[in-house]
Amino acid sequence: MNDLLKEALTSNSQAIDSRINEIYGEFADPDTREVRDAELYSLTAGGKRIRAFLVNEFCRACGGNVLDSLDFAVAIEMMHTFSLIHDDLPCMDNDDMRRGKPTSHKVFGEATALLAGDSLVIRSLMTAANNPRVSRNVSLEAVNLICNAVSAEGMIGGQIIDMRGEREELDFQTLLKLHRKKTGEVIIVSAVLGCLAAGVTAEDERYNAAVRYAEKIGLTFQIIDDILDVIADPAVLGKNVGSDASENKTTFMSFMSVEEARQYAAKLTAEAKEELACFEHADLLYELADYLLVREK
Ligand code: IPE
Ligand code: IPE
Ligand code: MG
Ligand code: MG
Ligand code: MG
Repeated sequence: MNDLLKEALTSNSQAIDSRINEIYGEFADPDTREVRDAELYSLTAGGKRIRAFLVNEFCRACGGNVLDSLDFAVAIEMMHTFSLIHDDLPCMDNDDMRRGKPTSHKVFGEATALLAGDSLVIRSLMTAANNPRVSRNVSLEAVNLICNAVSAEGMIGGQIIDMRGEREELDFQTLLKLHRKKTGEVIIVSAVLGCLAAGVTAEDERYNAAVRYAEKIGLTFQIIDDILDVIADPAVLGKNVGSDASENKTTFMSFMSVEEARQYAAKLTAEAKEELACFEHADLLYELADYLLVREK
C-alpha cells in the first residue's frame, strides 16, 4: 500500500477510535455494562475503517473540514459493525472469527450479540442526528440517507437475497443487485455523507461523481471479498476462509475464475478513478481505489 494512504488510514482510525471512546464514556451505567462491552468489543476490534475513511476523505476532497464529517464517519462504522455482528450469527453465516478475534456471539452469547447489534443501530442514528458541527437540516438528511442505505431496500435487502442465494442459484444480474444492496449502498452513503458535511448537495456535479465512484469501488469491494473468501490467508484476513462455500452461497466465484473476477474489478476501478476529476483534493481517493483491488484483508 502507498505510504501516504497507509498514514492517512491510520490517522483516520485513530480519530474514529478516540471519538468512539468519548461517545461511550457518556453511557457508563454499570447495570447495562454487558451490552456496552459487547458493542465496544466489535467496534474496536481492528476493522479497516474504509467506510469512515470514505466519509472523511470525500469531505476533504470537497474542500470541507474533516471535523465536520467525523460523527457521520463514526455513525457509519457503528452501523457497519452491527451488520457484521448479525451477519456472523449462527442463523446467518455462522462464523467464528471476525477482525482477527472470536465473533461476538462466541464471546458474549447469541442474545447479547443480538442486542449489541441492535444497540449499535440506535447509537449510529443518534450519533449522526447529533453531529454538532452541521445544521439540523444536514443531520436529518444524513439520518434519512443512512436509514435508506441500511433498510430492506438496501443492506438488509441484500442480506435477504444473499440468504436466498444459499437455497437456490441466483443469475448474474441478481448477484449484481445483491452486491449493490448488501455492500454497495452503505459504501455509497459513506461518500455522500462526506459531501454533505462539506456543504456539497445533489445539485453539485461532485455529489453525483461521488455516488458513481462509490458504486464502482463498492462492487469492487464485494468482488474482492468473494475472492478472498476462497484464496486468502485467514491469519491476514482476520476471518475464516471457505465460509461462502460452506454456506453454499452464490458469489462472484460462482460465475468466474479468480483471474476473471480480478479483471472485472480492475475495469471498475479504472472507471471509478475517472469520476474523481472534478475534485480538488482527491489524491488519496485514487490510492484507495487501487488499494481495494489488491487488498489481502
Ligand atoms: C466486511 O467489510 C463485510 C463486507 C461488506 C464484505 P470490511 O472488509 O470492510 O470489514 P472491516 O470493517 O474491515 O472488518
Ligand atoms: C456481509 O457480506 C455484508 C454485510 C452486510 C454484513 P459477507 O457475509 O460476505 O461479509 P463477510 O465475508 O462475512 O465479512
Ligand atoms: Mg453474509
Ligand atoms: Mg459473512
Ligand atoms: Mg464475504
